[in-house]
Formats: sequence, C-alpha cells, structure tokens
Amino acid sequence: MNETIQTILTRRSVRDYQPRQIDDKDMQEILHAGHYAPSAMGQQPWHFTIVQNPDLLENLQTLCKISFQHSDNAALREMVSSEDFNVFYHAPTLVIVSGDSKAIAPLWDSVLAMGNMLLAAQSLGVASCWQHAPITIYGSPNGSASLSSIGLDFPKGFVPYAAAVFGYGVLPLPEAAPRKPDTETFLK
Ligand SMILES: Cc1cc2nc3c(=O)[nH]c(=O)nc-3n(C[C@H](O)[C@H](O)[C@H](O)COP(=O)(O)O)c2cc1C
Repeated sequence: MNETIQTILTRRSVRDYQPRQIDDKDMQEILHAGHYAPSAMGQQPWHFTIVQNPDLLENLQTLCKISFQHSDNAALREMVSSEDFNVFYHAPTLVIVSGDSKAIAPLWDSVLAMGNMLLAAQSLGVASCWQHAPITIYGSPNGSASLSSIGLDFPKGFVPYAAAVFGYGVLPLPEAAPRKPDTETFLK
C-alpha cells in the first residue's frame, strides 16, 4: 500500500485533543494542501478562516451549545447536557472554509478543500474532526449576525460550507468505524 492510501485509510475523526497549538509550519502545509483541491472551472472560490484565538473559540462554543440545546435532535440535546462536553473537543484550531456564493459550485469546492486538509493533517501527524455546528449556526435565523457579534465574519458574499477542528490528538487514537458493504456498482 502506498503512503497516500495509507494516509487516507488511517485518518480518523478525533474527539479528544491536547491543548498544544499546531506548529505554524504544519498549519501552513495543511492550508497549502487545501488550496490545491480541484474546483469547478478552477475558480478556487474559497476563503479559509483559521480560528486560534481561545476567547473566540470559547464564545463560538457557547453559541454552538445554545444551538444544540434548541436542536430537534435529541442526541445533540443529550450531548450538550453533559457539563464537560466541549463542542470542539478542546482542539486548539478550528478552520472554516467559506465559498463565494456566486461561484459555480462553491459548496463542492469548499468541501474538497477541507477534504484535502483533513488528509494533509493526517500525513503530518495532526488529528482533525469535521465540526458542523458553525455551519448549522450560520444557516439558522440571525446565524450570520450571531457569528459576527463574536467577531467571526466571512468575506462579503461568502458562505461558510465546511468546518473542522485540528490539533494533536490524545492517544490512543480511535479505530476506524466499519465501512458499509455493498455500496459499489461496476458497469463494465
Ligand atoms: C458533513 C459532515 C458533518 C460532520 N459533523 C460532525 C460533527 O458535527 N461533530 C463530529 O464530532 N463529527 C462530525 N463529523 C464526523 C463524522 O462523524 C465521521 O467522519 C464519521 O463518524 C466517520 O468517522 P471517521 O471520520 O473517523 O472515518 C461529520 C462528518 C461530515 C462528513
């Protein structure tokens, strides 16, 4: 198995992080990999917001918790009722990819950029986990204004489509969840 496939197969969503911040050099490499994702007609209609300010992360976490408390999803309400629940699993970095809503396919472009970053992180020994709450909040009534009220703004005309936390995971890292069988159709 080559190193690329090995990286893909060993990436896991990690939900427990050390407080240590990611080395700047590693962060830059991860972002660089994001910029090299494919995009519709090569538009690269993305913007990466890297949140490393602990106060901002804490304020965003508070907004996420409020949103979970009011969710229709019982599992989310249950999760947030636990006092030590941390929406970002104590990860020191959150990356949000926003896309120019006037581009051809900004959602797909942004998600591919995030996919590249999750894999690049894995190759560098940096753990990650997609965290959808900021995206859900943005899409809720007054969501964009709430995010703006804590200092989280996106470029004009850009919509956040993908968010994930990054950091050094607490060992041992989780095992892969079993993958669904019978999900391929070859038409040769
Ligand atoms: C669109 C999307 C949304 C997700 N949202 C969350 C989330 O809000 N919180 C979380 O802990 N994991 C989230 N995940 C991670 C998935 O739960 C995880 O990828 C899945 O359980 C498979 O595990 P693996 O990533 O370790 O292979 C999300 C993944 C995707 C693709």
